[in-house]
Amino acid sequence: MTAGSRFQRQVAVVTGAGSGIGRATAAAFAAEGASVVVADVVIEGADDTVGAITAAGGTAVSCLTDVADEEAVKVMCEKAVEHFGRLDVLHNNAYWAPLHRPLLETSTEEWQRTIDVTLTGVFFGCKYAIPIMIDGGGGAIVNRASIAGFLDATPNFAAYMAAKGGVVQLTRSVAVDYGSAGIRCNAVCPGLIRTAATAPLLADEQRSERLRRRLPAGRFGEPDDIANAVLYLASAESSYMTGQTLVIDGGKTIT
Ligand SMILES: NC(=O)c1ccc[n+]([C@@H]2O[C@H](COP(=O)([O-])OP(=O)(O)OC[C@H]3O[C@@H](n4cnc5c(N)ncnc54)[C@H](O)[C@@H]3O)[C@@H](O)[C@H]2O)c1
Repeated sequence: MTAGSRFQRQVAVVTGAGSGIGRATAAAFAAEGASVVVADVVIEGADDTVGAITAAGGTAVSCLTDVADEEAVKVMCEKAVEHFGRLDVLHNNAYWAPLHRPLLETSTEEWQRTIDVTLTGVFFGCKYAIPIMIDGGGGAIVNRASIAGFLDATPNFAAYMAAKGGVVQLTRSVAVDYGSAGIRCNAVCPGLIRTAATAPLLADEQRSERLRRRLPAGRFGEPDDIANAVLYLASAESSYMTGQTLVIDGGKTIT
């Protein structure tokens, strides 16, 4: 991504920013001038992201956060104000789910943890970021959903799909309830993006090649493909957009 100044003097919080798409998005915000709170339940990952951002001349601080823990999410949002004076953008990206697990093989504990992290974590983020954003004159929230749970039905992803479907509706709810207070809220729905989470699936070369050939774009997504969309939804360029769910999937869901 080319460095610019779209988020100069703005502050962004990115959850699950210790790896994959979250890391790429945190780095992209910083490259565009934002000061970034890099939150993750794995502090080593968050610290590595902060290291990469600062090495590139950006500004960031790491924050140990389990997004399923309400108090931790409150502290994460307050950290933006303590360190950087304000909070303009929240990107709710963290998730946890048992993947490739049919409903009958999903334990009640796994179901609950999926909802706690992947859906309730988004609720907590909105709950504690919105009042700070309103005090600061407004803000933008970008939630990470998935085509699984929106347009696509992926086999054996019951808990994940239920949580991500909830994220789409929560996004709409925040948009209607807080739009007049200056809060925009949108969601992004990635297709198959090459990260640690999808590495086991893509390691099977034959399967991976079959999947790739079905994509109109002819390739899998990269974390920057999603980061670019998140920055658009968080920026003034999308100021008339709210409550929307943007699909970035190389065309998978139109085939
Ligand atoms: N990779 C894909 O193909 C794909 C497709 C659709 C949607 N997504 C979504 O994109 C987001 C990022 O996915 P990814 O592929 O980069 O995954 P990833 O596994 O590389 O990164 C997820 C990050 O979230 C962190 N995390 C896990 N539980 C957490 C918690 N309780 N609190 C805070 N942080 C926590 C992990 O430590 C990790 O750093 C997720 O919401 C995922 O559902 C990914």
